[in-house]
Amino acid sequence: MGWRAAVLTLFPEMFPGPLAHSLAGRALQSAVWSLQTVNIRDFATDRHRTVDDTPFGGGAGMVLRPDVVDAAIASTTDDRPLVFLTPRGRPLTQRDVRRYAGGSGVILLCGRYEGVDQRVIDARHMEEVSIGDYVLSGGELAALVLLDAAVRLLPGVMGASDSAAEESFSHRLLEYPHYTRPAAWEGRRVPDVLLSGHHAAVAAWRQAEAERVTRERRPDLWDTHRSATCAAPVASPATAP
Ligand code: 6GU
Repeated sequence: MGWRAAVLTLFPEMFPGPLAHSLAGRALQSAVWSLQTVNIRDFATDRHRTVDDTPFGGGAGMVLRPDVVDAAIASTTDDRPLVFLTPRGRPLTQRDVRRYAGGSGVILLCGRYEGVDQRVIDARHMEEVSIGDYVLSGGELAALVLLDAAVRLLPGVMGASDSAAEESFSHRLLEYPHYTRPAAWEGRRVPDVLLSGHHAAVAAWRQAEAERVTRERRPDLWDTHRSATCAAPVASPATAP
């Protein structure tokens, strides 16, 4: 049994790709999860195996036909969430990833060309998900990203050391910087506190660094962290008497 992923794509040879390696690959080998690829082209009905057509209303590019996509979905469908990877989707978050990992698996539809006919997206209640504000040439790389993020959360997959990183992101701060030997490299010294053996001082330094880097790089995450960790609002200088 295990966690089951199905990927609907015109490029099944792109899978498992990088997921055959490292943590996810070992878990795939040991059947912690399984991967089924479905070639959308196998569900075309004409002699030329046509999957797409020109958009109604005109414009550039081609659109995947709803009947062909639906036949591909019908070959897998069950209680798993059906996710359509598209730059038009809601941004994927660690919360979504945790929800996917906590269920029986996912069915991922990868778009290519200009898109997929909206009627099949609506009729089959797909979640439309994006992995960031940039444009990929298809949903396949996004599907690999989603699967990597979910599989590492499955029981027994992730090394104990990585659990801290997921904790850290769940608590809405970026990670503090890491250092190892040598203590001096190209004239750069490891921060003294990390060599002090003073565990409370190390913890305080790491917390301060995590806060600094989050404030600098991700003001959006910093605001969320602050509203989650500060109970009472602070009067701003502009409104204070
Ligand atoms: Cl899910 N698909 C494509 N084609 N581009 C993207 C994306 C998805 N997420 C960000 N860019």
